[in-house]
Amino acid sequence: MSSNPLATSYASIPQFDLAAQFALIGDEIRDAVDRVLSSHQFILGREGAALEDEIARLCGVAHGVGVGSGTDALVLALRSCGVGSGDEVILPPFTFVATGSAVSALGAKPVFADIHPNTYNIDPAQLERRVTPRTRAIVVVHLYGLSADMDPIVHFARKKNLPVVEDAAQAIGAGYKGRRTGSLADVACFSFYPTKNLGACGDAGMIVTNSAERAAHLRILRNHGQAEKYVSSEPGWNGRLDEIQAAIIRVKLRHLAAWQRARQTNAAEYTRHFSQIPGIMPPLVPEGYDHVFHQYTIRVEERDRLQSVLAEKKVGSAIYYPVPLHLQPLYASLGYKAGDFPHAEHAAQEVLSLPMYPELRQAQLTRVAEAVSEFVRH
Ligand SMILES: Cc1ncc(COP(=O)(O)O)c(C=O)c1O
Repeated sequence: MSSNPLATSYASIPQFDLAAQFALIGDEIRDAVDRVLSSHQFILGREGAALEDEIARLCGVAHGVGVGSGTDALVLALRSCGVGSGDEVILPPFTFVATGSAVSALGAKPVFADIHPNTYNIDPAQLERRVTPRTRAIVVVHLYGLSADMDPIVHFARKKNLPVVEDAAQAIGAGYKGRRTGSLADVACFSFYPTKNLGACGDAGMIVTNSAERAAHLRILRNHGQAEKYVSSEPGWNGRLDEIQAAIIRVKLRHLAAWQRARQTNAAEYTRHFSQIPGIMPPLVPEGYDHVFHQYTIRVEERDRLQSVLAEKKVGSAIYYPVPLHLQPLYASLGYKAGDFPHAEHAAQEVLSLPMYPELRQAQLTRVAEAVSEFVRH
């Protein structure tokens, strides 16, 4: 059983719980770290190469390229699409800031396209009006663990001759019409930030692609633009994955399928509680999609008051994300204003992510669900 000191039904229920996970697999992780320490190979070694193959296989694609973080993955994937200074990149405004700042880091301009209000992912119908002669790529985000609606997006992009990048940071293993995220477009980016469904004990990321040429270019880009040692053919930097993180992620990867099932079971249980309660909108899972519930995110009016009431009851929750990118101070110079992307803005005011992790116990889940239901009923 969990040795988590908070794990009694009257104690706090955190929004995520890495302690509960570590209690189960701590010994496996220590062994893996030990293996790397004894190998004395810390950068670009066996563990990273093995992880690249394993993640590529999980996604059903040919190549994986390990990098230092999800943000590195996005910047380098965009570089591999030729994005640079003066280009425009279309992306949703309702995402973590890294999706936008990766575009900005290359001197390119983010151009936002609103989300669909039920899935929180980019609405394919919004793309046409955002394309200009300067558009160089489209980035989709599979938010909370649910794939974006890829068929119309990729169809549109092919027509316009634009590459599509999947920001799959939150959606490893998620499914769309029988395929996995990572295999749904030209190139895809994963983050192994510690709280992700597959998390490192530090920063790490991965890019996957079916193109051998792109993978080879990405390997050069992540290592100072060096095609051969000490000969740099283009600007790059240190975007490498380290061996200790790779070894830890490989341990967790062995558990991922079981963890995803546990998340889905927990999500179904939450939804069973909420589906009959007007005023709570549970996450939508469209037909043919396999949602991996990185977050279990509901929508409620008076979200902020609900969050305070939950906090009083020692129930953790989180808002992903309270400020859409077009309203971030970072992007003030782009001239967007409130009202430009109503679905993203509305979602930012109403979403609340509840405790969600494989180790969440039935009694904890029931306590969370009852606290939320009680608030909405009154
Ligand atoms: C949607 C999204 N994109 C990008 C990132 C950036 O990943 P990282 O923190 O590994 O750089 C994250 C997570 O942090 C994310 O959730």
